[in-house]
Amino acid sequence: MKRKPFIAGNWKMHKTIAEAVSLVTSIIEKLPNPEQVEVGVAPPFTALSAVAARIGNSALKLVAQNVFWEKEGAYTGEISPLMLKDVGCEYVIVGHSERRQIFRETDEMINKKIKAVLSFGLKPILCVGETLEQRQKGYTFEIVKSQLLKGLEGLSSEHVLKTTIAYEPVWAIGTGKTASPSQAQEVHHFLRGILGKKWDKEVAGSIRILYGGSVKPDNVKSLMQQPDIDGGLVGGASLKAESFLQVCSFMEV
Ligand code: PGA
Repeated sequence: MKRKPFIAGNWKMHKTIAEAVSLVTSIIEKLPNPEQVEVGVAPPFTALSAVAARIGNSALKLVAQNVFWEKEGAYTGEISPLMLKDVGCEYVIVGHSERRQIFRETDEMINKKIKAVLSFGLKPILCVGETLEQRQKGYTFEIVKSQLLKGLEGLSSEHVLKTTIAYEPVWAIGTGKTASPSQAQEVHHFLRGILGKKWDKEVAGSIRILYGGSVKPDNVKSLMQQPDIDGGLVGGASLKAESFLQVCSFMEV
């Protein structure tokens, strides 16, 4: 089965509402053919509503950067899946390494978030990835396997099929150091194999596994040529329309 490439821009804690609307306007103007590549943006929470209004009927997808697992209640500062659905999100990033490291999110919390996201008809993007120290000690495969299986624990094939995985080696995020295409491919292939063993062939063959970590216009093509790399989760290069659109047009780069 042919997997449609997916490029998502993670704006992290950048952009006021006016800046976000301006950026999304430029992206929509030159959005690549949605038959060939699916493109999404993840603005900060404060800009979701304005960006959703600007997206309107365009094929651009709205992505949230994080979520809490309860529907509503006394959880000061948190945002529920219901609210994300309400504002027009289709995807939610869960378990980004910055959430794991800075905000101490555990695999158990991430699993609760994934289940909540799916129960509201949203699609999770589960991030996994090793630190530099873990890679140097040879733990990469052990770490990503554990993050993948704990994050998706208890999910049916039907739900796993709605999930996207993002392999983001922590040492490559925001550092300008990209994993080489073969280093990334090795891990993507490994993750796909685990999905096949734990669930089934259809799941393994259909799930998109994105690469994240210093994806830029000049390295996207070689990454996307790898058989198990189905797209990118793009941080820094997604903050300017020009570089993000170049990444999205990887076939022409
Ligand atoms: P980067 O971030 O492209 O700036 O390395 C990627 C990410 O954190 O998703």
